[in-house]
Amino acid sequence: MKIFGKILLTLLLTAGFFSLSFAAGNAERGKKLFTDPKFAGGTSGNSCNTCHPNGKGLERAGEKGRTEWRNPGGTWLALEDANNVCIMMANKGKTIDPRSQDMRDLVAYIKSLSGKEK
Ligand code: HEC
Repeated sequence: MKIFGKILLTLLLTAGFFSLSFAAGNAERGKKLFTDPKFAGGTSGNSCNTCHPNGKGLERAGEKGRTEWRNPGGTWLALEDANNVCIMMANKGKTIDPRSQDMRDLVAYIKSLSGKEK
């Protein structure tokens, strides 16, 4: 019986580790998307970085406890939504799946800005 317990524990830990590593975004990759005018099919020639150079204006966007985000399109209840609205209105691209790897990476980059003076 004991050996089954150990095997089960190992399986659970492995599963947990993999789900964590997939859920986490990659801030380095997010930064590349942030500075790419063609990200999400953007056609305006603007990248996120055009209006938010080095993340300017987004220093607090990734802070814990935030419940509202504002951009010229309105007020949004999720960071992913605010990102998608800037993708649509400012980059003239197409919204991306909030659970996609691209969105996770973008969010990881924005979170990495918190607490930095830019
Ligand atoms: C044409 C200019 C422009 C572009 C391009 C742009 N934004 Fe914005 N964005 C704004 C403005 C203006 C605001 C309002 C707040 C401010 O002045 O920084 C804003 C606000 C936001 C906010 C909410 C900040 C908060 O703390 O409430 C997020 C998140 C955001 N932008 C993400 C992005 C992302 C991601 C991209 C690229 C996909 C992008 N923006 C591209 C102009 C732009």
